[in-house]
Amino acid sequence: MKKKSLLTLENLSDKTLDKIIDLSFKVKNEKEKYYKTLKGKNLGLIFEKPSTRTRVSFEVGMHQLGGNSFSLSPGQLQPGKREPLKDIARTLSRYLDCLVLRTFSHDSIVEIDKYCTIPVINGLSDYCHPCQALADYMTICEKSPKTKDVKVAYIGDGNNVVNSLLMLLSRKGVHFTVASPSKFAPNKIVVEKAMALSKKSGSTIEICKDPAQAVCEADYIYTDVWISMGEESSKKDASVFAPYQVNGDLLSKAKPGAYVMHCLPAHRGQEITDEVIESDRSIVFDQAENRLHVQKAALIHLLT
Ligand code: CP
Ligand code: NVA
Repeated sequence: MKKKSLLTLENLSDKTLDKIIDLSFKVKNEKEKYYKTLKGKNLGLIFEKPSTRTRVSFEVGMHQLGGNSFSLSPGQLQPGKREPLKDIARTLSRYLDCLVLRTFSHDSIVEIDKYCTIPVINGLSDYCHPCQALADYMTICEKSPKTKDVKVAYIGDGNNVVNSLLMLLSRKGVHFTVASPSKFAPNKIVVEKAMALSKKSGSTIEICKDPAQAVCEADYIYTDVWISMGEESSKKDASVFAPYQVNGDLLSKAKPGAYVMHCLPAHRGQEITDEVIESDRSIVFDQAENRLHVQKAALIHLLT
């Protein structure tokens, strides 16, 4: 049987996507039932960038399913220096049952997956963040049982998080509008794919520059950092994002009662104000919690 991996949402079938989402609700609501599901299985995690949510939720999730987890530091493994990445991939496949990777370049994840004989999960790359989008969609389903009527507006940088949201929301019939400065609009190829998918699902995908236009009639306002991990020393000019701050004024232009989302970590005073992220409209910790449940579901799907 061909091994399964979770590198992007593009290569998950509709059936698999629905299976993971359904299972996420089951593992959340019937936690005890899954205590031994992955007994004896071992998960490795390699993070080239910092993490709080992804690392802890994968490790805790694996333990809650009866398995073990191991954090492997890139400093110890020294890929490309001590030995080629492909040798690390083939060696780890002899010990572990699954590998979670957070890398700078998405190509590294693709390369490792090519040589691993075990499932590989993308825990964020410069291209996408599939586990985050799954948790975000689960959170939206919890708040809005009829997701087909829902509009999500994303305000800010057209980054890895947006790429995964585009790939998921366009398939699930959720209306999705992105407002970004033109220089930082989302990846054109991903937008084209999302637009094609939206025709089948009945959602609408809109890319614009005006945050006020994007949030009009929105049920959810989502934002993320303007400078992602790995871009700190680049010449990216964060000042162009100033009109894209999610603040009280922008929130007042959305539907009354609209929810505010952020994948975290947040830079208060930049992409979002402290007042908005601390307000009762904010569901950022529900999103963070749901990382645990969707990732447990993904692990069960990949390992059983
Ligand atoms: N949202 C997210 O992936 O958080 P971490 O960077 O803390 O893992
Ligand atoms: N876009 C952010 C997401 C962090 C979870 C980054 O890549 O740093």
